[in-house]
Amino acid sequence: MRLDRYVSQSTGMPRSHATPLIRGGQVTVAGAVVRDPAEQVVPGRDAVTVRGVAVREPGHLLLMMHKPVGVITTTEQGRQPTVMELVPADLRHRDLAPIGRLDKDTTGLLLLTTDGGLNHALTHPRRHVEKAYLAELDCELQPDAEARFLAGLTLEDGTLCKPAGLERLGPLQVRVLLREGRFHQVKRMITACGSTVVSLHRERIGALWLDPALPPGEVRMLRPDEVQLLGIGAGQAPADALQPAASQSETPENDG
Ligand code: URA
Repeated sequence: MRLDRYVSQSTGMPRSHATPLIRGGQVTVAGAVVRDPAEQVVPGRDAVTVRGVAVREPGHLLLMMHKPVGVITTTEQGRQPTVMELVPADLRHRDLAPIGRLDKDTTGLLLLTTDGGLNHALTHPRRHVEKAYLAELDCELQPDAEARFLAGLTLEDGTLCKPAGLERLGPLQVRVLLREGRFHQVKRMITACGSTVVSLHRERIGALWLDPALPPGEVRMLRPDEVQLLGIGAGQAPADALQPAASQSETPENDG
């Protein structure tokens, strides 16, 4: 496959954008800069990076799910319903896995992919991909909660969290911004500040927002522009991606 086609299919950018990146020396194949857009690349053999970020192999599936309450995030079949049962039947034979985990009672944006490299890149703690959660609380948080989130608070078992964002949207509603993913992390951080989470919803992963038109329980393929938001510079949300547009369908552990 030609390099410009590979970059275009992997990242979702048009070939007309991929070509100048390649000619400008921003693309490597197997560790070496390649400036010829016609260079032949073998998917699965040659690792390709764009601006220093590994891009996924073309041909992989990347799905967005609006996870509903009551399903568990696992590929293992058991007694409880799983997110895999929500995947359309014609895709279930593909080797899909959720990217990170949401608790059974958490709703919102969950990605699934056949691309192990992308999965690793988005969940690896060193990538610091930011995730945004909306939480409803049983009572108001302590007054110093924002400062404690920002400083990196300590959970009841002594775990020290990385600095995190906390915005009060109302007396009983907050947005939490995390760049790491510990078991029940949002719930435990809120508990440490005097309240209990009564419902939790993930709105965003990196620069990608949950499609507001996607009903709970539904799954769809990511559009090329959405793939691009994740594939290149995932986690570095450009300013204009930080709020969902009105029309948009845009925007190794528990996910925080
Ligand atoms: N934090 C939690 O507490 N639960 C989730 O499902 C995700 C983040």
